Amino acid sequence: MSTLENILTRIDGRVGVVQINRPKAMNALNGPTMSEIMSALEAFDADPAVGAMVITGDERAFAAGADIKQMATASVVEMMNSPFIGYWDRLRAISKPVIAAVNGWCLGGGNELAMACDMIVAGEGARFGQPEINLGVIPGAGGTQRLTRAVGKTIAMEMILNARQLSAEEALRYGLVNRVVPVERCLGEAVRLAEEIAARAPFAIRIAKEAVNAAFETALAEGVSLERRLFSLLFSTEDQKEGMAAFIEKRKAEWKGK
Ligand code: CAA
Repeated sequence: MSTLENILTRIDGRVGVVQINRPKAMNALNGPTMSEIMSALEAFDADPAVGAMVITGDERAFAAGADIKQMATASVVEMMNSPFIGYWDRLRAISKPVIAAVNGWCLGGGNELAMACDMIVAGEGARFGQPEINLGVIPGAGGTQRLTRAVGKTIAMEMILNARQLSAEEALRYGLVNRVVPVERCLGEAVRLAEEIAARAPFAIRIAKEAVNAAFETALAEGVSLERRLFSLLFSTEDQKEGMAAFIEKRKAEWKGK
């Protein structure tokens, strides 16, 4: 376990875990915290010993949003020039799977951080929301776009225009999260899921993530054509030969990541 000022990190098997650690501020995300989170994820992404990652908070809060105290007096020019919101974009460049393990409050920039991950495991008491309208602003780190794609226009409108919160069960029903588990099992379940994915063919996992993400960025025909190229590309890997041979020989495949 390594301790930075605002996060804790550890490697659990082949899973890199980042825990946001600002309990006194409900894990509100200020510049130094986002910088530490992104640097840790980028280091895990570059580490061959890590196959997947988990971001979590504590039982009270995954993260209660961007740090309001940090932003309260900012001018438009300061906000436009600030690297702050750009930290959320850096998640898009992470090539390995990232799973959010969410207990407690998951609000504003915290929900935007969770939604920028690839999957979300929620604890039973988790509350999801974009309450920025209560502060006289709107979500600024992808919330209007990712939430709408996740839960659809009508629920996103209600959450963003009227600060509606979703319970964990509602988040599951509307497709925001993958599963809901008891609070004490949330991190363990996310790590278990990440471990399962990390045990699969690493290069194919990376390509699969790229292909699914392309569905958010491209028109259908373009996405399908990208998928076909990526699918064909995988036939140049040793893992494709191994995976198909193992199926035919009725044995377990041994992945090399090559
Ligand atoms: N920024 C800074 N500090 C925060 C914070 C935030 N987003 N959320 C909580 N805190 C701080 C509180 O100020 C308080 O600090 P003090 O003890 O020094 O006063 C401490 O965390 C504990 O919070 P509360 O006393 O408010 O705890 P609570 O249990 O009564 O309420 C809560 C919990 C419902 C999460 C409430 O704190 C809250 O509503 N927080 C703000 C949520 C919010 O508006 N998030 C959106 C932020 S803007 C954004 O994220 C923009 C974007 O899109 C990038």
